[in-house]
Amino acid sequence: MIRIGLLGAGMMGATHIGGIRANKATDAKYVGVCDIDEAKRNEFADKYGIKSYASFDEMIADEQIDMVDLSLPSHLHELFCIKIVEAKKHVFVEKPIAFELDAAQRMIDAAKANGVRLMVGQVIRFWPQYAKIKQMYDEGVFGEFKGVSCSRLGQMPTWGEWYKDPKKSGETLMNLTLHDIDFLHYLLGKPSSVYSAGVKDEMDNYNDVMNAFTFANGTNALVDGSLSMTPGYPFTMHFRGAGTKATVEFVYKAGENIGAGATTSFVLYEEGKEPQDIAFDEYDGYGREIEYFAQCIESGAETSEVTSESVLTVLASVIAAKKSLADNKVHEL
Ligand SMILES: NC(=O)c1ccc[n+]([C@@H]2O[C@H](COP(=O)([O-])OP(=O)(O)OC[C@H]3O[C@@H](n4cnc5c(N)ncnc54)[C@H](O)[C@@H]3O)[C@@H](O)[C@H]2O)c1
Repeated sequence: MIRIGLLGAGMMGATHIGGIRANKATDAKYVGVCDIDEAKRNEFADKYGIKSYASFDEMIADEQIDMVDLSLPSHLHELFCIKIVEAKKHVFVEKPIAFELDAAQRMIDAAKANGVRLMVGQVIRFWPQYAKIKQMYDEGVFGEFKGVSCSRLGQMPTWGEWYKDPKKSGETLMNLTLHDIDFLHYLLGKPSSVYSAGVKDEMDNYNDVMNAFTFANGTNALVDGSLSMTPGYPFTMHFRGAGTKATVEFVYKAGENIGAGATTSFVLYEEGKEPQDIAFDEYDGYGREIEYFAQCIESGAETSEVTSESVLTVLASVIAAKKSLADNKVHEL
């Protein structure tokens, strides 16, 4: 059994623990939580019936803990990841792993050097509808995609002030649009080029971005990301792939943020057939990704669904999109 210590009793910490408790494929369990905010961590520990650690050092010294779920604000990932792996604990790092390739490489190297596992929470690879699109694409259901369109749209998160600071969040590209860029890599492989255009907000964040990716097989993909939608606009994710044999469209609309009350539709359009609605029982991938990592740790299997190499390749593409925003040029990848 993998025993998990949670670092960061925030939105994602709660989402992860809820996800792992709802999924039953492993007996992995959260045993304790640590957060710089004492009241928050104690409330979290009481709510979930787990231990509250007074400090990070106390948590990583606990021999009960096999793996740490690093769900801190993004700019703190490298600092804490290195400490966690040096304490010989496996680490699940929320996305983005880091903002720069050399930082991400240091984290990956440190995990290897200390003989522990690292996996990044690039959750869309585990999201049932996106995973289904990948499976159907690999089976040839769509043929080759001519055009793909992805969107991820919402408002600036209200629960963490740090999101507004581009140096802490990495802006919409790192913070939100990375999910769609990641899925495109998972689906179609490494892109050949990217061109991005964006609009900045008053905090100097590029919070509305449009990214055009090309792929060696001729597919073009448009990725639209915004964290400045009008209040009231539902958090939305969307994927449409128009293939040589069929078209698929997935739409997810929630409330202020991802989660309860979401409505989804997943429709397959094939020539000569009625549009086919495909139903799903579960709607998120947060429990599945951590469960998968726990299973890989226990079995010694590679985390082949999210390798460190793929994390670096995706990060390189996001960085290229960021450069394109700044210099208004197409970047080869
Ligand atoms: N995969 C996804 O869909 C998804 C969605 C949202 C956020 N995220 C990622 O999850 C991570 C966390 O985001 P969040 O929304 O949960 O943030 P949050 O602000 O809700 O929670 C962060 C927590 O970290 C604590 N904290 C800050 N500094 C600390 C320190 N030095 N030591 C201990 N605790 C500290 C804060 O008190 C807070 O409770 C980010 O990297 C973000 O990019 C991923």
